[in-house]
Amino acid sequence: HRDFKIAPSILSADFARLGEEVDNVLAAGADIVHFDVMDNHYVPNLTIGPMVCKALRNHGVTAPIDAHLMVTPVDRLIGDFIEAGASYITFHPEASEHIDRSLQLIRDGGCRSGLVFNPATPLSYLDYVMDKVDMILLMSVNPGFGGQSFIPGTLDKLREARRRIDASGYDIRLEIDGGVKVENIAEIARAGADTFVAGSAVFNAGRGEDPHRYDSVIQAF
Ligand code: DX5
Ligand code: ZN
Repeated sequence: HRDFKIAPSILSADFARLGEEVDNVLAAGADIVHFDVMDNHYVPNLTIGPMVCKALRNHGVTAPIDAHLMVTPVDRLIGDFIEAGASYITFHPEASEHIDRSLQLIRDGGCRSGLVFNPATPLSYLDYVMDKVDMILLMSVNPGFGGQSFIPGTLDKLREARRRIDASGYDIRLEIDGGVKVENIAEIARAGADTFVAGSAVFNAGRGEDPHRYDSVIQAF
């Protein structure tokens, strides 16, 4: 039986009270902090960088931080995120000219490495680097924004990624990102995912008068 992990995406958090939001979702049972880094170049949006990752560590966050780099070039930021205390660092293979080198930089820095696949990016990027990835992240929306709908074709791709992981014999997490809700998470898990990013589903539930409404969503997962 798989070891499931919930990774709230702080893209949908209230950035003016970020430390408190992260504390609340972790207290509600979340396992990993999903940290979306966008550069207004690889994707048409601009978010947060290593300074904010470092600030969360200084605030006392000890849970794994999963830095999802939607940036190009990739390599220069890898060192900054290692320094800032990231646990996982994942990047989009088509955003790196030297995928093997980028993966190696991440592991050499003591972090866990991963590749991220957009809905139309082929899994064949994994062919020669299965021994160098700790995480495979499948995007179930086109990257750039929270609150989009899950693209159903991703379920077949998850099954294919699960087959590749099982055949490889390596210990690799299979993460899904985009449009994950209480209503579809069971089906996504059956298709092979073990790590679930959820942004709007988690943080929108915590809006308003009762911050503890996170608990019900995270428990429902
Ligand atoms: C999108 C980001 C996601 C996003 C998911 O580019 O990578 O992590 O925050 O948000 P929801 O769960 O709202 O689809
Ligand atoms: Zn993400």
